[in-house]
Amino acid sequence: MSSFIVLGAQWGDEGKGKMTDFLAEGADVVVRFQGGNNAGHTVEVGDKQYKLHLIPSGILYGNKLNVIGNGVVLDPKAFFDELDYLEGLGVTVSPENLIVSDRAQVIMPYHKVLDALKERARGKNDIGTTGKGIGPCYTDKVERSGIRVCDLMHKEVFKEKLQANIEAKNEYITKVLGGDALDFDSIYEEYNRLAERLRPYVEDISVKVYDAIKAGKKVLFEGAQGMLLDIDYGTYPYVTSSNTIAGGVCTGAGIGPTLISSAIGIAKAYTTRVGKGPFPTELNDETGEWIRTKGHEYGVTTGRARRCGWLDLVILKTTARVCGLTSFAVTKIDTLAGLEKIKVCVGYKFNGKVVDYFPASLEDLAACEPVYEEFDGWDDSVADARSYEELPENAKLYLKRIEEFTGVKIAIISVGPRRDQTMVVGDI
Ligand code: GDP
Ligand code: IMO
Ligand code: MG
Repeated sequence: MSSFIVLGAQWGDEGKGKMTDFLAEGADVVVRFQGGNNAGHTVEVGDKQYKLHLIPSGILYGNKLNVIGNGVVLDPKAFFDELDYLEGLGVTVSPENLIVSDRAQVIMPYHKVLDALKERARGKNDIGTTGKGIGPCYTDKVERSGIRVCDLMHKEVFKEKLQANIEAKNEYITKVLGGDALDFDSIYEEYNRLAERLRPYVEDISVKVYDAIKAGKKVLFEGAQGMLLDIDYGTYPYVTSSNTIAGGVCTGAGIGPTLISSAIGIAKAYTTRVGKGPFPTELNDETGEWIRTKGHEYGVTTGRARRCGWLDLVILKTTARVCGLTSFAVTKIDTLAGLEKIKVCVGYKFNGKVVDYFPASLEDLAACEPVYEEFDGWDDSVADARSYEELPENAKLYLKRIEEFTGVKIAIISVGPRRDQTMVVGDI
């Protein structure tokens, strides 16, 4: 395993931060390839908890190279806030262990304003974004008016691009969306200051990552969000604006598919989702509330309550296919402990047939009725298990069903938030 991907198999918050931290021990380089500070990755080491949004979770080791890829949208202010936060917790961060792509798109203040105003304009059809300016920044990238990190490095180029953008954005913000105009001078001055602080971190990251792989180093690509928030394969339009699937690594880090050896899908033992959009196995009842409370299911980035529901194997099978998963890491089976019966969705009843794939159309998805299998539960002793043998028999049956249905083996089982509450049970 020279280079491998860690990605979310559901709607995000599966435990990617914890699993990246766990797997980073055996890696040399950790790369974020998409998304931005909409992500919220939690890592617990000993009695310390770290919340990472933009900086790769490998940063906590000190001796790994952490890379922010070109596919990431970078808010420079959020970047330095996070850097200062980490240093405040005793973590060493410098251009020696953290680099940023010169091709990454920069989140500007008007992207955040547009994120909020567009959500307001959508009314009851709002997406429930994180408000970090992610969608508007990716919009500019595709529209070819975006400002990249390499532009920030050239004062005059930046000035010209910022002027054109401010003019166009102010027109749209004031005349169409009913917002207030932004001031060029203060943004130009603030971003020039940030650019100088950023300069030592800026690199052509494709070269660095390629050279590392060629030198036999281990590279871990840390996904953000999850498969069903992917712009192409997610529950569009209730998605984020990047490719969260395995293919995103190639475009987001400038690395060809032949250099990637495996992809681990991180799957929570149940399903959660933040923000709006369809969710076939959602539990709008006491059980859903029970899972939310026991699993502390509140967003790391926005603090919003996460919607909770049963595990959906149709989703995991779809992720296995689209991302070419080589294994699963299943997290939070300790959260389900205490439930007498646990349901698992094994198909959707749709037009009189049972299907096991995720439909494209939200209308078709709304017409799908989950088909459930019921499992007997297990108790809280599961959190003390440190080997497969020590797991309760009912938990083993549950995990076996995941493998059987998806055709993908489970390599890692997580029974708590800490590093030591993790067991490797198969090939990664
Ligand atoms: P990410 O966005 O995929 O990195 O996940 P989040 O950090 O947003 O949410 C996952 C939460 O579950 C975090 O609070 C983790 O500390 C916690 N967590 C991860 N794995 C486990 C586990 O196996 N059991 C329990 N109880 N908590 C876990
Ligand atoms: P991690 O990496 C869960 C959701 C938002 C919203 C939609 C679009 O911690 O798993 P955006 O701000 O990206 O335009 O919002 O995507 N979303 C996430 N949900 N985990 C995340 O990241 C998310 N990042 C974005 O709630 O529904
Ligand atoms: Mg999260």
